[in-house]
Amino acid sequence: MKRAKWVAGLSAAILFYLFPGVTFAQDSLFIIPKPLIQHARLGYFTFPKETQVFASNAFIGAADLLHEHPYIHFEKTKPLGGIKQMPKQGIILMMANPKDTLAQNAYRLLVEPGRIIITAHQPTAMLNGIATLLQIANTRKNGGRIPAVWIEDSPALGYRGLMLDVSRNFLPISFLKKYIDIMFLYKLNTFHWHLTDGAGWRLEIKKYPELTQKAAWRTNANWKYWWNNGRKYAEMGSPEASGGFYTADEAKDFVNYALKRGITVIPEIEMPAHSEEVLAAYPNLSCYGVPYKNAEFCIGNDETFTFLQNVLDEVMAIFPSKYIHIGGDEADKSAWKTCPKCQKVIRDLNLKDENGLQSYAVKRLEAYLTSKGRKLIGWDEILEGGLSPGATVMSWRGEAGGIEAANSGHDVIMTPGAYLYFDAYQTNPIGQPEAIGGYLPLQKVYAYHPIAAGINADMQKHILGVQANLWTEYMPTPNQVDYMAFPRVLALAEVAWTAEKNKNWNDFQLRLQKHYLLLQRFNVNYYPPSTALSILSKFDIDKKLANVTITSEQFEPTIHYTVDGSAPTTSSPLYHTAIPLPATATVKAAIFKNDVQSGKTADLVTDVHKAIGKKVIYNTPWSSSYPAQKELTLVNGQTGDLTYGDGQWQGFNDDFDVTIDMDTTEPLSQVKIRFMQLTGPGVYIPSQVTIAVSNDGKVFKTVQKIDNDVPYTDSSLRFKTFLFNLSGNTARYIRVTGINEKRGFIFTDEVVVY
Ligand code: ACM
Repeated sequence: MKRAKWVAGLSAAILFYLFPGVTFAQDSLFIIPKPLIQHARLGYFTFPKETQVFASNAFIGAADLLHEHPYIHFEKTKPLGGIKQMPKQGIILMMANPKDTLAQNAYRLLVEPGRIIITAHQPTAMLNGIATLLQIANTRKNGGRIPAVWIEDSPALGYRGLMLDVSRNFLPISFLKKYIDIMFLYKLNTFHWHLTDGAGWRLEIKKYPELTQKAAWRTNANWKYWWNNGRKYAEMGSPEASGGFYTADEAKDFVNYALKRGITVIPEIEMPAHSEEVLAAYPNLSCYGVPYKNAEFCIGNDETFTFLQNVLDEVMAIFPSKYIHIGGDEADKSAWKTCPKCQKVIRDLNLKDENGLQSYAVKRLEAYLTSKGRKLIGWDEILEGGLSPGATVMSWRGEAGGIEAANSGHDVIMTPGAYLYFDAYQTNPIGQPEAIGGYLPLQKVYAYHPIAAGINADMQKHILGVQANLWTEYMPTPNQVDYMAFPRVLALAEVAWTAEKNKNWNDFQLRLQKHYLLLQRFNVNYYPPSTALSILSKFDIDKKLANVTITSEQFEPTIHYTVDGSAPTTSSPLYHTAIPLPATATVKAAIFKNDVQSGKTADLVTDVHKAIGKKVIYNTPWSSSYPAQKELTLVNGQTGDLTYGDGQWQGFNDDFDVTIDMDTTEPLSQVKIRFMQLTGPGVYIPSQVTIAVSNDGKVFKTVQKIDNDVPYTDSSLRFKTFLFNLSGNTARYIRVTGINEKRGFIFTDEVVVY
């Protein structure tokens, strides 16, 4: 045993001298985000009881962060300036020589058996190097001994952000500091603090005490209950008041805490919309002039701008960030349409319409912020009606806004909902705590590429970076915020830091396995990967084969499967790659760990049926928002997954009504059709589904009607398959209708015909 190790060490040494620049496995580090260059070196550095720390003057402050290393103990950082020779022992934080080829925003981390040297030109880059060192320790069971390594690393994108909404649910500073600690370890550098919204104002503004006496408190802690039951605010101190706010001093302390870790805090003060709480406390700033009527400020009232500028003055005194976020999203402009003051501004300034009015307000605020040496950021609605010249756009309604803004020379932060809204479910919603909807598994976050197609090559520089958003409507506790944030934040970190060409999902998953230990050490209530399996079938029309894939959130699971409907065991075939099936089959699969089944058996009937490839006549159109695969969708032999956005679920706003033309009159035995229900976004199963058949496509005979039995009060994700017995019927045309009783969306993925 010993000899084998020694031989391995020796051959590694020989390899190293033969190929000095090449990485070879000695002991892997599992760093997230993936460093640009990382080469293993020979040997280990072992932290002594007391470590000497030396730092160039510019890095004395950064050295304090080493105290957060569980194995580094030191009294005081010694200035490197007065020392003639490079120390042979300890940790050295060194200012790069101006001639060093190291990039300005890069760090170099050299771990040798005797010492650790981190080199950088700037404190923020040095902090990134320290973060790597801390991460190495925290992802190892024994972080007191770390493998020698040479790393040279710099970010692909300059803005690497995370947004937290503290309006829907107030979160304590102690918890926010934990987020800063973890963001630091993963090299995220911007914390966007969504401080105000209709659910509560969270920042002390000395000039407007009502904002924190009243607008910071609501009548029910549960956001959904409050939202559905009158949305009233309460006086601080009254028995029903629930909420909270940060004092200006607390906010300043938090900003400094983040700054020490290289993280900029950008405050967001919402305007002109999402401001119900302000207008309840200061109704004179709304179009109707009374509380509980408007969510938008009155733009025609100059007091609005006095208020906003006064608020921004206090905000700027607390937050030194270059950027100030003014919201700008989702304004309902209907009150402006009938407000005499707003209409007067539109007339006087020759504005086109209410979009022009919003644009006028944003431009005015932008000019104000610019006069104070700051820059304005807003959500992508600030593009409507004309974008202010110096504004930066946060693209959230997809990427189109970001692409448009970048191509017109504006800076952009990409934060598209489908990839970076961490309030969406990250797994099958069945059995999960209620979330706002959607489906955003870790792999989809990882797949996001911020430099969207459609941005002209010379404008790509305007994509400053990316950000994920944590909207907290359904995150009432710090634990639930953790659960929705992690591990998705780790995928975000790699999306932001690591160039697309260096990203690799399998490698990320491998490294991720070591980070659960770090998250546990930081008491993060992360979402653990599910043991559920997902079986999907994709029909190959040319080969006439159903290709079945089986996937899991587990890392490299051992999956056994059957295709005859029997229960899988360890003697069943092992799943490696897609299973081709020529005929309808029942696939069953399960994960096994050490020969014992782990989690439930999953199953899927892969319908290789008679209607595949046939013509579908749409008697009512599909929704233009959810066309899926258009006229192929319902007869392509492919089942939808858990989300109606996956391109296999077709949406309908009217009653569902399609006719399948089977080409020839033929005997029929069965029709199956499946619908989805998710009441949050208004997706309902039809109240009744009917099958009728015809030989000429004109005169139809009703065969069977089936009523829905899934209650509309069930807010969880539900599926229902309506199964019709057609034996004895011979027909060419099959018409399927479903009543859209709730006048919401109907979603279906396939009409199966035997
Ligand atoms: C947003 O999600 N309304 C920016």
